[in-house]
Amino acid sequence: MATKTPREAAAEITAKTPTNDKQPTMILGIETSCDDTAVAIVADGRRVLAEHIASQDELNRLYGGVVPELASRRHLEMLVPVTKKVLRETDLTWSDLSGVAVTYGPGLAGALLTGLSFAKALTLATGLPLIGVNHLAGHIAANYIDTDLEPPFLALVVSGGNSQIVRVNDYVDFEIRADTRDDAAGEVLDKIARELGLGFPGGAAIDAYALKGIPTALDFPRARLDTGEFSYSGLKTAALQWLRRNDLGEGELREGRLADFCASYMQAVVDPLIDNLRAELSASGYGTLGVSGGVSASRFLRCELQILAEETGIKLHIPAMRYCTDNAAMIAAQGYFQLKLGSGIYPGDLDAVANLTL
Ligand code: KG4
Repeated sequence: MATKTPREAAAEITAKTPTNDKQPTMILGIETSCDDTAVAIVADGRRVLAEHIASQDELNRLYGGVVPELASRRHLEMLVPVTKKVLRETDLTWSDLSGVAVTYGPGLAGALLTGLSFAKALTLATGLPLIGVNHLAGHIAANYIDTDLEPPFLALVVSGGNSQIVRVNDYVDFEIRADTRDDAAGEVLDKIARELGLGFPGGAAIDAYALKGIPTALDFPRARLDTGEFSYSGLKTAALQWLRRNDLGEGELREGRLADFCASYMQAVVDPLIDNLRAELSASGYGTLGVSGGVSASRFLRCELQILAEETGIKLHIPAMRYCTDNAAMIAAQGYFQLKLGSGIYPGDLDAVANLTL
């Protein structure tokens, strides 16, 4: 059967039927916490009607990373066209929507402010409620898209800025059970990838090499901390020192050594996540694990999670790849549940919080 266009999906979902005359609640989501300008419309927190992401990857490649000032300026240029695009694609008007959900932290202050100011202007002009969404709660809400998953469950959020294990007791009730003391998993992958000349962000390149190498080839350190905490800074330093002292060689020799290096490094990044997950699964008794954030795209990590699921009997839940990385559908999904529960609705006095926690 042919895939429906966003317009057809929106028309179908808004059409009343004799058996179901409840109108769906449609939320516009806006995400500008880092370098992607993303806007989406989601029905009832689970069904994505339209979404668009204006990526800044080309700009980032020029500078070897995200330049906050440039990211904010690009958001400013892209927010109006991207929003118009999702509205046009669905044929929806402002009166069809029930709220505007926007990321207000954590993230780059200027980037957050751009999206938040835009959302405030929209809600002032339309009279729609402004729903402030924590970016991390958004990553967790990616698990609701196209599923009937409901809390409670355990969530692993692993991205360029965060590595957390969270008890999701309810849609708006979160308990952080394990966190990194210093760098996030994606951050340590990106730093070593840059050192190896594998580009930015380099997590996917390290992952691809890791799958071809031997994870026990090199013995990288794992910090020994109490359950609930892990640390990657010692690992990163050890890997940088190894690269300074050793030559990876050329040609095929280099490819093989690089694969072993990446596999060993990846194993050292993944091990603390798996150890903490195992402890928390047993302590919480939760039967479902939802995984999200850009690093959850790692096939190496997914294999290890699969082994953990088989060992513990938990149900493993990983959203579609495009909802693992930053996107606005997850913000709209979380916004829907907040609106339903009357949580995080602001009259217009919401501020961006760069270091917001769950
Ligand atoms: O969630 P995300 O798109 O952005 C935020 O940080 O919020 O995550 C980006 C991170 C980067 O560190 C990137 O290197 C990593 O996700 N990443 C991957 C893969 N794809 C993206 N890491 C490992 N394997 C991948 N396939």
